[in-house]
Amino acid sequence: AQRKKIALIGAGQIGGTLALLAGQKELGDVVLVDIMEGVAKGKALDLQETRGVGKWDVDVTGGGTTDYSVIRDADVCIVTAGVPRKPGMSREDLLKVNLDAITKVAHGIKQYAPNAFVIVITNPLDSMVYAMYKVTGFPKNRVVGMAGVLDTARFQYFVGDAAGVSPQDVQAMVLGGHGDDMVPLLRYSSVAGVPLTRLLDKARLDAIVERTRKGGGEIVALLGTGSAFYAPAAAAISMAEAYLRDKKRVLPCSALLEGQYGVKGLFVGVPVVIGAGGVERVLEVELNDDERAMLQRSVDSVKKSVAETKL
Ligand code: APR
Repeated sequence: AQRKKIALIGAGQIGGTLALLAGQKELGDVVLVDIMEGVAKGKALDLQETRGVGKWDVDVTGGGTTDYSVIRDADVCIVTAGVPRKPGMSREDLLKVNLDAITKVAHGIKQYAPNAFVIVITNPLDSMVYAMYKVTGFPKNRVVGMAGVLDTARFQYFVGDAAGVSPQDVQAMVLGGHGDDMVPLLRYSSVAGVPLTRLLDKARLDAIVERTRKGGGEIVALLGTGSAFYAPAAAAISMAEAYLRDKKRVLPCSALLEGQYGVKGLFVGVPVVIGAGGVERVLEVELNDDERAMLQRSVDSVKKSVAETKL
């Protein structure tokens, strides 16, 4: 059978890492697109030149944004076009400039890859994925935002490190927007089924929740320029793989809610099933009063961000 095609729009830190991971996993042929055409082409060529030693066989090519036809008939588009945070900035500070990038990219995707499954990574995530959905006019199952998988992965690492176990054996779930008021669901988290509260005391867990919420900022402060890229790329690749291989993975993602969790018409982080049908369904878990209040605060932030998203 013909190989799948993955378009990566934005060939910066995350885009380049996405291309490497997609290549190594042989998810499909990869095309990198960037306003800096040379960067897209240069990274693509550099990656092609790893194939002999890396032993993988999919093509990686690059192109500029003046000609979106290179993404023609892509099965998956992963969007990182835009700018990352600088130290001291919040994700919301990126809204204006990144909305412009997302709008242009959405038109390109709509024209050349009308059947693609679109994964948005650009921040502020929940309003950028909303803009992608609006501009493309794609059905809700084919537009999704990457945030929860990353937030969960951070939480898994912190718990694993504190408890002296593999992050792989940490089960976790995060709800809400991709901001500092995201809601890690401790009641639904465990180490291989063992409740977290059996392994770590409350103070330790509270500190981990706080560190998870501010996990992105911690990396921004350390790097000095740019924001996290390895973990965001790995997280998005797991979503793309779930779609391309029809894995029915249960992953926390920013998806359009139509009444679930009492939210209507917004993209918010919730557990969803990703398979060949894209976002096949939203899983609703029962929340207690505290969790509901935390989710409400997070949803209010998303609402405010979307209100500023003038399309
Ligand atoms: N079309 C295509 N590419 C664009 C556009 C556009 N309209 N605008 C900007 N770009 C490109 C830039 O040229 C750059 O190469 O997007 C790339 C972004 O890469 P980086 O600056 O390295 O940022 P990265 O770390 O990859 O993060 C991208 O994801 O996590 C979010 O907050 C982060 O919004 C940021 C995005």
